Amino acid sequence: MAESFDLIVIGAGPGGYVCAIRAAQLGMKVACVEKRATLGGTCLNIGCIPSKALLQSSERFSEASHKLAEHGVLVSGVQLDLARMQARKAEVVGANVKGVEFLFRKNKVTWLKGAGKILAPGQVEVAGEVHAAKHIVIATGSDSTPLAGVPVDERRIVTSTGALELERVPRHLVVIGGGVIGLELGSVWRRLGAEVTVIEYLDRLIPGMDAELAKQLERVLARQGLTFKLKSKVTGATADAEGVTLTVEPAAGGAAETLRADTVLLAIGRRPHTEGLGLVELGVAQDARGRVVTDAHFATNIPGIFAIGDAIAGPMLAHKAEEEGVALAELLAGQAGHVNYGAVPSVIYTWPEVAAVGATEEELKAAGTAYKTGKFPFTANGRARAMGDVDGFVKILADAKTDRVLGAHILGPDAGTLIAEIALAMEFGASAEDVARTCHAHPTLNETVKEAALAVAGRALHI
Ligand code: NAI
Repeated sequence: MAESFDLIVIGAGPGGYVCAIRAAQLGMKVACVEKRATLGGTCLNIGCIPSKALLQSSERFSEASHKLAEHGVLVSGVQLDLARMQARKAEVVGANVKGVEFLFRKNKVTWLKGAGKILAPGQVEVAGEVHAAKHIVIATGSDSTPLAGVPVDERRIVTSTGALELERVPRHLVVIGGGVIGLELGSVWRRLGAEVTVIEYLDRLIPGMDAELAKQLERVLARQGLTFKLKSKVTGATADAEGVTLTVEPAAGGAAETLRADTVLLAIGRRPHTEGLGLVELGVAQDARGRVVTDAHFATNIPGIFAIGDAIAGPMLAHKAEEEGVALAELLAGQAGHVNYGAVPSVIYTWPEVAAVGATEEELKAAGTAYKTGKFPFTANGRARAMGDVDGFVKILADAKTDRVLGAHILGPDAGTLIAEIALAMEFGASAEDVARTCHAHPTLNETVKEAALAVAGRALHI
């Protein structure tokens, strides 16, 4: 046995690295296995962080090109230096992944470099060496889901990985899937000048999120120049030297049409990444979608082997994985680690942003829960007006009898930041009145949340 640890975590994404750090804080001897040349997983290397860098940069470009004149700021000759934009993105990623390496050193977490394979409970092989561990955590994340007839080459037909690396702005980008990745990266390339067509199988965007919010988001993004083809499916894509030819059919069946694109982004979801871990050989149970099956304490059916993050059930979100990593480390240390899945926010970083926490109206109706709704638009918020960002609204849903906040749905400027207040309120079991009676600074965007909470009782002040 090369070395012996209390805990070996396989995968150094937000779930795995956070689990490793928390376990080390709690006094365990910890190693984290990572095969990528840098720590941080999909999120830091090819996901959340680089996409947010490009979203930020492209928004600046779009502002300089179209929005500043309204503020009386006249700029001319705005030009795009895509190579610099991409280099900045790489710098941002570099600083973040080095940060995780620093945190590992600080917390004395050993980085085992290479791909990990579980040989038996308590044994992990990495780069030809076998290490012992009391506990093993699978935190290997997810990969993009392939689509039959659409062969990804990461040049012409790309996943989010290739879409973050384009060296030229495509004339026409076709996005398959009107979900989170499709709308965020579609926005980036639209702002930089591409014609963008989003093909979505369902009759709406961002399925699973509030329907009213999805409808308004569609309108706002259409105004920004994105074209949507809903109720449509791509049945094939062929790349050639110049671009890609796609065949698109109505989802319900019917005549196919042909579309031409310079680049195609495939973004129809992600699936757990568990290949090569030895799970089948060990008999670790996985469900029909390939997710590792765990109990409420993240334990698999094999003693000593646990799993968290995108590899298990639940929303594929970095912060959900982090919460699970912390909870599991605490459970392994004999503490009462716990994740409240009812208060996990989700955010889409378009502009305006989309953010939600808790139940949607559709879910409450399906469950037969009586609820009240409070809504407030950003057009009636002084700060939003001063910023020139008045699209969207805050909607708060509260129990009809108890007034307890059950969910919130926001489309608007900095929605991702605003939702934190409601997540906190829900953690504390707050009522809409609790939120409404909390003093909110003026003039802030947060006042929209307060007004929506007031509106639950029909007493918004500014509308
Ligand atoms: P998604 O599940 O958000 O959206 C996929 C979309 O593709 C859905 O609207 C679905 O109806 C549609 N679709 C499925 N098959 C199709 C087909 N054959 N033709 C046309 N449309 C089809 O998945 P996405 O955008 O790929 O994101 C993957 C995961 O990554 C998600 O779980 C998401 O939560 C996560 N993510 C989160 C981000 C954030 O929190 N801001 C950013 C990026 C990704």
